[in-house]
Amino acid sequence: MKNTLLQIFRKRHACHLFQPDRPLPPEDLDFILEAGRLSPSSFGLEQWRFVVLTDPRHKRAFQDACFGQPQVGSASAVVVILARLAELDPDSAYVRRLMAREYPEGEALEGALKNYRGFHAATDIPAWSGAQCHIAAANMMTAAAGVGIDSCAVGGFVPAEVHRLLEIDPRQCLPVLILPLGYCAQPPGEKQRLPREEVVEYR
Ligand SMILES: Cc1cc2nc3c(=O)[nH]c(=O)nc-3n(C[C@H](O)[C@H](O)[C@H](O)COP(=O)(O)O)c2cc1C
Repeated sequence: MKNTLLQIFRKRHACHLFQPDRPLPPEDLDFILEAGRLSPSSFGLEQWRFVVLTDPRHKRAFQDACFGQPQVGSASAVVVILARLAELDPDSAYVRRLMAREYPEGEALEGALKNYRGFHAATDIPAWSGAQCHIAAANMMTAAAGVGIDSCAVGGFVPAEVHRLLEIDPRQCLPVLILPLGYCAQPPGEKQRLPREEVVEYR
């Protein structure tokens, strides 16, 4: 298991051009999305939403919104990862519903909501919500690599264009990351990482 995971982490790379017209097996796409859905999140609030695009016209439009990056238009599927915003309001039905899964109705739930209200007031909510989405994205990229599917995290896009293309209200959701998936058209370059001693310290 350890070696398998290490191989997957070493194999995953940012693919900058995919083989076009090669669909993903639906069960593999489901598996990747499931890895995102099962990700951990702060307060268990599952801050993400995933919009899956497979229509070539949609993918091309998103490529334009991503400064023309060709991995977006050539991908077999593109997952747009959105961070919830308005639903994270402490008074929302969404927060109550999700917190009620963990805390019994009554004093326990009201206490948890009060605690969350304090946190919400003191926190940069778009940044915090977006951070949870990055965890889901990482899990999806690892899952994809595990079933032989390449990916590329794309943070270079025009948020207003994504709102327009998806017809979403900017107060509702923040686009965080665009995740093209498919089969890379080019072999990966050598993995470049800092040596362990520059990254890890024991105290
Ligand atoms: C949050 C995030 C945003 C990124 N945005 C882009 C992007 O817009 N375009 C791109 O080509 N690569 C993008 N990347 C990929 C990185 O450039 C790449 O992961 C990094 O250079 C390490 O290479 P590797 O993933 O092949 O190991 C992004 C990666 C992350 C984590």
